Amino acid sequence: MKKLWAGRFKEETSRLVEKYTESISFDRMLYRYDIEGSIAHAKMLARQGIISKRDAEEIIKGLNEIYREIDDGRFEFKEELEDIHMNIESALIEKAGEAGSRLHTARSRNDQVSLSLRLYLKAEIKEIVLLLKNLGLLLAEMSERNLDVIMPGYTHMQRAQPLLLSHHLMAYAHMFDRDRRRFEDALKRIDVLPLGSCALAGTSLPIDRHYVAECLGFDHVSENSMDSVSDRDFAVEFLSCAAIFMMHVSRMAEELILWSSEEFSFIELPDALTTGSSIMPQKRNPDVAELMRGKTGRIYGNLISLLTIMKGLPLAYNRDMQEDKEPVFDTVTTIKPTLNLLIEMLSNMRFNKKRLRDTASSAYSTATDIAEYLVRKGVPFRTAHEITGRIVRYFSENKKRLSDISVSEYKSFSDKIDDDIYNFIGDLESVNAKRSYGGTSPEMVKGQIKRFREGMGTEAKP
Ligand code: ARG
Repeated sequence: MKKLWAGRFKEETSRLVEKYTESISFDRMLYRYDIEGSIAHAKMLARQGIISKRDAEEIIKGLNEIYREIDDGRFEFKEELEDIHMNIESALIEKAGEAGSRLHTARSRNDQVSLSLRLYLKAEIKEIVLLLKNLGLLLAEMSERNLDVIMPGYTHMQRAQPLLLSHHLMAYAHMFDRDRRRFEDALKRIDVLPLGSCALAGTSLPIDRHYVAECLGFDHVSENSMDSVSDRDFAVEFLSCAAIFMMHVSRMAEELILWSSEEFSFIELPDALTTGSSIMPQKRNPDVAELMRGKTGRIYGNLISLLTIMKGLPLAYNRDMQEDKEPVFDTVTTIKPTLNLLIEMLSNMRFNKKRLRDTASSAYSTATDIAEYLVRKGVPFRTAHEITGRIVRYFSENKKRLSDISVSEYKSFSDKIDDDIYNFIGDLESVNAKRSYGGTSPEMVKGQIKRFREGMGTEAKP
């Protein structure tokens, strides 16, 4: 097959080189964006009188045919044509002859590849943002439904203080909402048209890049043709948003795995999302959550991979940059099902409310409330902490709970303690008392959920 750039060469490219350098095996998924970009480009060329209206019509007709052929699986991709851009252009020349061979006027593959990747990411990020909205709204709804459920809160993986389950769920809602905002913000820097930067210097032909931007729905046109063809910040930024998002997913997955264990028994995961063991008939394994945690490694790897590809590249385009696509595609095709499954898993899991509540009450988790009680009676916090520490040590040695201790026993540690101490040491009272802004009292959490929803708009479907 004759290459589109064969003019300068005497010998044919070796097969080994073709195999090593092709990108058609993975960049074929960009076909619709390549064609969309080419149609806008052809329109602009005709509008500017660079090619005739007739040629533009033939080009557009041919491109639409190619689109349908690829869509129906009738198109034959050729490895020796390297990438999706040359496969499509070459097929167009076969269809539209001379008109087809005018399409590549005033552009290069360098601006073309960047254009396709930007169009692809714009479309994908919009879907990801919607999924993140739905996930956030689902967590808010779950929080609202569980406002009466008390659970133990942990630090250092040790029981710390009682909390509302809703508060715990809202913590994740906020993480995923920051992710959504990060993706939306990245979108602004993706929304820049590179086409018309040509190989690196721009062109002597009278093109209208702003018209192309308008046709393709780009908010901005790149300012510097060199930066434009050699910039992959937008892809790095996308991968970085995805890596942070997966860190959150992985933390949640870890909790779901722990919570579904017999030791915790806080939740029951839906049958449809757990798997059995081939040897132990009693097992219900949280494989989906484990793979979410595991796939986080790949997504971090994709970010590091592109950062490493880009470091040390001289301006402007270098072929190394062809390696940008697989990490990006892999990330998109990993995080979308992750989001869908997370939504599915959260919607269908069951909380063991009694177990959560019993676990919250069983420790000395309201000790801090005794210290704060003493502070309200004028004791300096450090002293209050010391007194409470002694109370806990003494009574844990005697296997007594804070609520089983008599006032006189309490008084032997501090004469500031009175009968009203019992109003502060229950887990319900403890939670209700955390009325500081952002705290875990039901009143605060209700406000949190309300503000969260307001900040979210209502476009997503819950
Ligand atoms: N297939 C390449 C890529 O995806 C495009 C090559 C662009 N330019 C070049 N001079 N080889 O990045």
